[in-house]
Amino acid sequence: MSDSIRIFITGGTRGIGRAVALRFAREGAMVAIAARTSGELDAVVAEIEAAGGSGEACQANLRDHGSLEAAVFRAVDFFDGKIDVVVNNAGIVEFSEFEEVTLDAWERFLAVNMTGPYLVLAEAMPALRESDRAHVFNVGAQLAAAPEKGSALLAATKAGVAGLGRALHADLADDGIRITTVLPGPTDTPGLAPWKERFAGQKLSTPEAVADAIWDAYQNESAPLELPIE
Ligand SMILES: NC(=O)c1ccc[n+]([C@@H]2O[C@H](COP(=O)([O-])OP(=O)(O)OC[C@H]3O[C@@H](n4cnc5c(N)ncnc54)[C@H](OP(=O)(O)O)[C@@H]3O)[C@@H](O)[C@H]2O)c1
Repeated sequence: MSDSIRIFITGGTRGIGRAVALRFAREGAMVAIAARTSGELDAVVAEIEAAGGSGEACQANLRDHGSLEAAVFRAVDFFDGKIDVVVNNAGIVEFSEFEEVTLDAWERFLAVNMTGPYLVLAEAMPALRESDRAHVFNVGAQLAAAPEKGSALLAATKAGVAGLGRALHADLADDGIRITTVLPGPTDTPGLAPWKERFAGQKLSTPEAVADAIWDAYQNESAPLELPIE
């Protein structure tokens, strides 16, 4: 497995993250997944192995720096020192109009959707620099550029993710580290399930379509900085 792609995915147990894990597993990748729920981590690791990859469960809460540090350390150990791909995917989807937004919700969104990806990258950067094919995918949202009613929490934090992607590109492109902000539209995942009625009559994307787009972008030497998914 020494030439296998080494990929670390946050939120790898459900929805888009699980689909990305299984897409890369089908290509024989070494796939480390992070999430909070250990039973789901073990179940997806078994799916990764059944799909042809090798899997590692890295339990972590994006709101807890120490647990993220330990999760990245575990992944780097599993990968023997280098990471080729980071997918900063774990995030929250919720809708509420601005006057209903509480400070608690605002801080929770900042912590999970913005500080989480920052911490993952801060911890993973030395191992990414060991790779000669490093690529960071940060999962944003189309809503950030075209907000709808009730999307303040999501639009504000995902605009931050897109801004971070552009800044990372400015810092890291010369070092050969590729950056892509993935921009899904509404996607049929467990995370969207409570809000599905908002999108009645709209065609939803699938987690597998997002995963295929990420796989294709990883194969592409001139992968786009921003990758909208219809
Ligand atoms: N679905 C959509 O329509 C849509 C559209 C645009 C963008 N997005 C973005 O796409 C990404 C994935 O969304 P999804 O709908 O696939 O999500 P999902 O179905 O809700 O799955 C979320 C994943 O993230 C993990 N997670 C959540 N909070 C976490 C935390 N604090 N620490 C560690 N892991 C955590 C969950 O596992 P645990 O709960 O076990 O931790 C799970 O594996 C998110 O960033 C979301 O904002 C989604």
